[in-house]
Amino acid sequence: MAVHQNYINGEWAKAGAGAPNINPSNVADVVGEYARADEAQVRAAIAAARAAFPAWSRGSIQARADMLDKIGAEILARKDELGTLLAREEGKTKPEAVGEATRAGYLFKFFAGEVVRQSGELVPSVRPGVKVEITREPVGVVGIITPWNFPIAIPAWKIAPALAYGNCVVFKPADLVPGCAWALADIIVRAGIPAGVFNLVMGRGAVVGEALSTSPDVDAVTFTGSVATGKRVAQNCAARLAKVQLEMGGKNPQVVLDDADLDTAVNVSLQSAFFSTGQRCTAASRLIVTEGIHDRFISALTAKMRNLKIDDALKDGTDIGPVVDQTQLEQDMKYIELGKKEGAKLAAGGQRLKRAAEGYYLEPALFVDTRPDMTINREEIFGPVASVIRVKNYEEALTVANDTPFGLSSGIATSSLKHADHFKRNSAAGMVMVNLPTAGVDYHVPFGGRKGSSYGPREQGRYAVEFYTVVKTSYVNA
Ligand code: UN1
Repeated sequence: MAVHQNYINGEWAKAGAGAPNINPSNVADVVGEYARADEAQVRAAIAAARAAFPAWSRGSIQARADMLDKIGAEILARKDELGTLLAREEGKTKPEAVGEATRAGYLFKFFAGEVVRQSGELVPSVRPGVKVEITREPVGVVGIITPWNFPIAIPAWKIAPALAYGNCVVFKPADLVPGCAWALADIIVRAGIPAGVFNLVMGRGAVVGEALSTSPDVDAVTFTGSVATGKRVAQNCAARLAKVQLEMGGKNPQVVLDDADLDTAVNVSLQSAFFSTGQRCTAASRLIVTEGIHDRFISALTAKMRNLKIDDALKDGTDIGPVVDQTQLEQDMKYIELGKKEGAKLAAGGQRLKRAAEGYYLEPALFVDTRPDMTINREEIFGPVASVIRVKNYEEALTVANDTPFGLSSGIATSSLKHADHFKRNSAAGMVMVNLPTAGVDYHVPFGGRKGSSYGPREQGRYAVEFYTVVKTSYVNA
């Protein structure tokens, strides 16, 4: 099998052994062999990005906009094929995967427009005769480190703004899902990106991620992944005063009030907790339910859970694909055991499942009778495992919702305008959803959280400019 190589300084690397990319729906299916960069290759990529920066950052913005538009157009034209690859390497269902590829295409289109919408400010000085100009300049070389759970959308929402604002990129995708990353790199290369402006360095976090975050030639690092790795990236960047942006975990609450429409409450909870196999940092893992609707909610939710089809991600009609790999499956099972030990009651699911092919299938699990202080309600599990916490009223629901070290997204199911409005203002999360799932965000508005979930400026939409540029204030005595 030909090895998919890294892309450094305008060339596909020649040598380099590959590691297999395994389909979690069928472990006998090898998606492809992908190279793992060594430290020297990462250094070469960084040097190439540095060398390409002056010309790229000062080049034609029309050419840059056209290039991003072309990349977006090709992703959209191939969304079905890219979605199939994504579902095969990561395990989310085909419709979810095609949706993610579509989002990636629109992200490039959005930032193509942003290239030509950049502007500054002209301000009178407090000194007569002096004018002040406030402009933005690209940061320089940006290191991009992405997680396995969104193999194409997260790379797109970091690479597109980085390039749009005139930066050069060294991109390190998750070692588990290099397929979509490589396909995206191939699209970027064929769109005519100049040598060094965009580099792909697939491989291990301990080698590639470490080299990127410690290199004095990388001006900014954007990272999405676990809290532990995020902290390490931040420390590496702080040690050399580099700009850093982190998106990490969540323990997102979905509040359900007595006055909620039961179908809406059940559907948003089911979607938030279990779709994409619960492997989203925006997933809701704490369902906080007031006592008047509690029993009805649980019976309706568990009835829906029993009808979910858990199977091969590429099979028609599958609702939930497999867990991404053995390590993640073991982590999910460990938390399910822990929940039982802590005294939570498993109301549905939690069993490993056998399907036609060998894969990491797990039945979505729902715990009930849980307390906010249980480990399963404190730590991010990152799988199809959710808990119900029963509360007396809205006030207690809000307190429990905010009682977490994380703060990415939150949701409320209610027909009360008063409670919805109060929750929007008082939820300690970066994103609040009313009668909508906590996961599944738009591509053109800011994304990010508070507390242990995020660090640094927001991603996406116009707010992305904050991280990918630096401000300059010029004074002119005319
Ligand atoms: C979404 O919910 O649509 O890793 C996006 C994650 C997030 C992205 C979630 N950074 O799950």
